[in-house]
Amino acid sequence: MSSLALMRWLESTPGRYDAGMRLLTFGRVRRLHVAVAAVSVRQRGDRVLEIGCGTGTVTEQLVARGARVVAIDQSPEMIELAKARVVGDVEWREQTAAEIDRLPKGAFDAVVVCLCLSDMSGSERRFVLAESVERLGEDGVLIVADEMQAPRGWRRALQLAWRGPQAALAWLLVGSISRPLADLRSELRNAGLEIVREQRWMFGTLGLYEARRR
Ligand SMILES: C[S@@+](CC[C@H](N)C(=O)[O-])C[C@H]1O[C@@H](n2cnc3c(N)ncnc32)[C@H](O)[C@@H]1O
Repeated sequence: MSSLALMRWLESTPGRYDAGMRLLTFGRVRRLHVAVAAVSVRQRGDRVLEIGCGTGTVTEQLVARGARVVAIDQSPEMIELAKARVVGDVEWREQTAAEIDRLPKGAFDAVVVCLCLSDMSGSERRFVLAESVERLGEDGVLIVADEMQAPRGWRRALQLAWRGPQAALAWLLVGSISRPLADLRSELRNAGLEIVREQRWMFGTLGLYEARRR
């Protein structure tokens, strides 16, 4: 299939976004979503706040593990796709992450932000991380998975070389351009969190972090 035909096919399908994400991550995105849900839900009935739920691919995994989910996204189209995908205990909210301070404090066992922080500005990320911590219950965990700046050296060079074509592809396939997170570890620490797990894939460019209040 020519690349133009591939674009047309993706654009004309409701699953365009999911197919686009699979292409952009060389098929790794599903594995990431499963890993995110596995660390987010420690027991059935856990209350999970998911920020930037997109088409509900992570939400689906959270629900399958027995979580009760509040899923937010600023895009009404994404929420519609997610609702069509997921059957389970989910409260869908069309709102931006900057409005999570409206949600009750201490109400969640986990706050999950998958492939969404990299869509935000630095100041929005700071606010969202700080407010996410406030939403966690005593033993709550913050789970962040996202695109990371690769470690220095050949991996950083490879990432920079791939960045231009990737940004163009991302715009065509999923309608947004993200920025890899340069120093998530410091951002989590500055939000009063301690990192208890870190996993990296794809030459260090995809990361999963579990953090708890210090
Ligand atoms: C790259 S998608 C990731 C979707 C899903 N979490 C996943 O892992 O496949 C980013 C999602 O975050 C949403 N988003 C981006 N910035 C947001 C914000 N500030 N507030 C709420 N949603 C946001 C977008 O609408 C989009 O659905």
